[in-house]
Amino acid sequence: MLSEPREAGPTTALMRKAYARWAPVYDVVYDKLTEPAARDAVEAAVANGRRILEAGVGTGLSLGYYPASCELYGVDLSEDMLRRARRKVLRRGLSHVKGLQVMDVCRLGYADASFDAVVAQFLITLVPDPEAALGEFLRVLRPGGEIVLANHFGQDGGAVARVEEIVAPLCSKIGWSSDFKAARIEAWARRNGVAFIGVRPTFPGGFFKILRMRKAA
Ligand SMILES: C[S@@+](CC[C@H](N)C(=O)[O-])C[C@H]1O[C@@H](n2cnc3c(N)ncnc32)[C@H](O)[C@@H]1O
Repeated sequence: MLSEPREAGPTTALMRKAYARWAPVYDVVYDKLTEPAARDAVEAAVANGRRILEAGVGTGLSLGYYPASCELYGVDLSEDMLRRARRKVLRRGLSHVKGLQVMDVCRLGYADASFDAVVAQFLITLVPDPEAALGEFLRVLRPGGEIVLANHFGQDGGAVARVEEIVAPLCSKIGWSSDFKAARIEAWARRNGVAFIGVRPTFPGGFFKILRMRKAA
């Protein structure tokens, strides 16, 4: 199993640096804001079975939302974020968390068909090559398993799209670009024979979405 990305390119180094800075304050800023979306994503994922991979697990805000019957694995580029996730596991006795490793989601060190579901929350729009990450999620997923994404995706038009244009400079600073549309993921699913189950809005006011896809059985 890989414990480090094979190549730590400039984007990887920048991402690690950014999250080394975010790590100490991350939970204070994001916990309450992302909790409803995280709970929705977890609920969708666990309906597929016990073995779950959380890609870009960060400080592990959602680890406690999984039922104790799960076998949960988490990966992240940032050791600074993962250190906080490990502390949560110890402090709260989250024995369903079986592994937390430094790993690039575009080069997962797991065998094919290892998981019943792969969850990625607030990750996919940050990855320089999201299709490569999705390809890896698909590879490690068992046939019939689900990819569940929680994220902000830009609207194609209407009033919300106009508000997004106004707040775009602020959102892009924290990785919530409205340029990234769910349609990009839907197109990837179509090209790869993956069933696009759908996108549904969640808190706050539909700004975050839960996107689900199923691997052919
Ligand atoms: C916005 S945070 C979300 C963390 C967590 N999923 C949550 O909802 O609280 C994004 C996380 O993705 C990680 N990340 C970014 N690119 C990654 C990559 N290529 N492979 C693994 N993790 C990555 C960052 O280090 C960071 O911890």
